[in-house]
Amino acid sequence: MIMDGNGRWAKARLLPRSAGYPAGVKTLERLIEAVFELDIPYLTIFAFSTENQGRPSEEIDGIVKLIPKYFKKALPNFLKKKCSIRIIGDRNYFSNNIREIIASAENQTAAFKDRAFTIALNYGARAEIVRAVNCAIEKGNPLSETEFASCLDTAGIPDPDIIIRTGGEHRLSNFLLYQAAYAELFFIPDLWPDFNKKRLHEILEEYGKRNRRFGK
Ligand code: IPE
Ligand code: IPE
Ligand code: MG
Repeated sequence: MIMDGNGRWAKARLLPRSAGYPAGVKTLERLIEAVFELDIPYLTIFAFSTENQGRPSEEIDGIVKLIPKYFKKALPNFLKKKCSIRIIGDRNYFSNNIREIIASAENQTAAFKDRAFTIALNYGARAEIVRAVNCAIEKGNPLSETEFASCLDTAGIPDPDIIIRTGGEHRLSNFLLYQAAYAELFFIPDLWPDFNKKRLHEILEEYGKRNRRFGK
């Protein structure tokens, strides 16, 4: 899920762009509820890209300060639902405090194997692929596709069947470029805070009608 359009949602309400992010978190909470209801085992959200580091600092601060708040509120639910939480991306960008909160949530949920919620934070697919290539070089021998995938941040998580981007742009903006090879893509005009269960159900229905050939 590429959760785009938060800034524009706030601007349309004559609010500062950063007001769009807490509204986006509420939508995320509703999405997670729907994903659990539908028994969808894997959800990966794009929350902050490597390239988003180039945003004005007040906007970055507005996003980063939501991270500890979100984890505190959401963790009990993930424990209850037996869903693991995992962060992909370069976490060195964040403060010690945030890194500890993330690691603690990952450790507390690591044993849950049936459901996984993945948050792409300071994530960029090109940076991820370069990290994976360096990991492959360290291994020292030519790798198969499966072995290479185990060097990616998403190791152990299956490739996405569906990628949804809200906010009307028709691009991936450096999200899961390697993993998206055969994903079904959905670009929808709703700004992220306006996304709802009804729209998710429509997308799943349309997904069911698509013919995935995988080149065959
Ligand atoms: C996407 O919302 C979330 C992040 C990049 C953190 P935006 O902040 O890009 O909102 P728009 O696309 O400018 O409206
Ligand atoms: C993609 O949105 C990143 C996230 C949703 C976190 P952007 O708003 O950063 O993408 P561009 O700049 O429109 O390509
Ligand atoms: Mg955007």
